[in-house]
Amino acid sequence: MTSNRMTGAATAMLLLALGACETVDDEAPYEPNASMGMLIARDSCSSCHAVGGTGDSPNEDATAFREVVNRPGTTPEGLATWLRDAHNYPIEMGVHLEPHQVDSLVAYMMRLETGDHASAR
Ligand code: HEC
Repeated sequence: MTSNRMTGAATAMLLLALGACETVDDEAPYEPNASMGMLIARDSCSSCHAVGGTGDSPNEDATAFREVVNRPGTTPEGLATWLRDAHNYPIEMGVHLEPHQVDSLVAYMMRLETGDHASAR
């Protein structure tokens, strides 16, 4: 079924072109997944940041994720841009994130937003 395959490829390319302004690779379009984001946060970030709804950051210089997302002016776009631009990381973070990991992380982090900006406890 050559025609089906070609249609699929064209659709994938269109979605990639719409979704990404910078580098486009061969990967299929990826849906941000908050559950995946939570795993990444626990795995790669929780040694320094408080990544859940309660608790203090193990590294007192690392802002709790719930504080980041509940800060007035934090947007998913701004957060994703910050996380994508590895050059802006504090040197001690030393993490590398793929674009799809950033999207999932942001999807997870935005779930920590409490709406009333009150303590999440
Ligand atoms: C080794 C410790 C460490 C790890 C691991 C780490 N961070 Fe950080 N992070 C920091 C520190 C320290 C700061 C504060 C730097 C500063 O204020 O200049 C920070 C700042 C941030 C900020 C900005 C906070 C703010 O107040 O605006 C975000 C967002 C962030 N980190 C996300 C992450 C994510 C996502 C991960 C996991 C993929 C991660 N960090 C892993 C130490 C770490």
